[in-house]
Amino acid sequence: MSPSPSTVVHAPPSATKASPALTLARPDRPTATIPVARTIAEVKPYQAVSSLEAIQSRPAQVPLKLDWNESTIPPSPKVIEAIHAFLEQAHHLNWYPVLNSTNLIEKLEKFHGVPGECLLITNGSDDALDTICTTYLDPGDVVLVPSPTYTHFLVFAQTRGAEIVPVYGAHPFEADLDGLLDAVARHRPRLLYLVNPNNPTGVMYSPGEVATLLAASPETLVIVDEAYSEFAGSSCIGLLQTYPNLIITRTFSKAYGIAGLRIGYAMGSAAVVEDLRRVFNPKSVNVLAQIGAMAALDDQTYLQEYLREVAESKVLVADWFRARGLPCHITPANYFMVCFEQAPWVVKRLQEEGVYVRDRSGMNQLAGYVRFSVGTVEQTRDLLARIERVLG
Ligand SMILES: Cc1ncc(COP(=O)(O)O)c(C=O)c1O
Repeated sequence: MSPSPSTVVHAPPSATKASPALTLARPDRPTATIPVARTIAEVKPYQAVSSLEAIQSRPAQVPLKLDWNESTIPPSPKVIEAIHAFLEQAHHLNWYPVLNSTNLIEKLEKFHGVPGECLLITNGSDDALDTICTTYLDPGDVVLVPSPTYTHFLVFAQTRGAEIVPVYGAHPFEADLDGLLDAVARHRPRLLYLVNPNNPTGVMYSPGEVATLLAASPETLVIVDEAYSEFAGSSCIGLLQTYPNLIITRTFSKAYGIAGLRIGYAMGSAAVVEDLRRVFNPKSVNVLAQIGAMAALDDQTYLQEYLREVAESKVLVADWFRARGLPCHITPANYFMVCFEQAPWVVKRLQEEGVYVRDRSGMNQLAGYVRFSVGTVEQTRDLLARIERVLG
């Protein structure tokens, strides 16, 4: 006879014997066959390749991790100090973070001159992109994507059952505003996803050009992904007041150097942000990310110094490749693209030299191209010496 609920005594976890029923993989049991949602069955997963394991397996080698466009240096010491100070308060990790990150919103309000009601802080800017897709896309909606570009976004749009329409210009490294205007007129998309400057090509549209696009497509929500805007020194924030169909996403993962904490944000009209909040989980941004982002934002001197290093490095890189006659595209962001005859071989050889880069040669229009993130001048000199060893 089973005991009545009131007589059940729960053994402490350490005294619980592992029961066979808890064993996870049982060869005699069929694996679950519950089908995924129809929209998910169509999704092509994002091909995330991480070099972390390879780097950790070679502790003796100084790695040059240039594959994900992260900052190549640690964040401002003020970030570390702020996180340390917080962790020293014995218990605050057991509480949920500040809801909706209103602490960071207050700072960003002043920093960008954008009202708090127009800001949404997210778990990385990927989370902002995902939230936008969840909020605005119905199955079958058209999403226009100037391409080649950052493909993780495609997963978020596909998850909602949207129809992705890529728009390719005649040349992958040149802006094509007329082509975009034409595509908008033909497809009347629900969303347009513009990475500005673009990853990986660096193609960039001026705020004036983006304004033309916004004016031509009032019923389209135009997402301008400004993940690399600090490096480019340009932004469409000034357009927010005029165009309610504009939404900008930003991240602390790149120039601010806290990719590991996962924090970003979206800026749009108050109405758009209110709509995003219908589905957004107000406690999804963790407390350390909030603290880290506030401290990073406060240390603009550190940021500017890093931006200066990256800009100087790009000049070194351009000169070096030009002298060797190799096609190299320096972007307004923190990466450059080089075309190699044997891209996969070069990537492999670079890895042996401890240089981790992103092979983009499989992307449409980018045959032979490899993307390198740019770091400090010292790191860049080291990088060029390692490339020299590989190319001979
Ligand atoms: C264009 C672009 N948008 C968004 C992201 C994702 O950034 P986050 O770390 O803020 O999610 C990346 C990361 O590589 C990116 O290149």
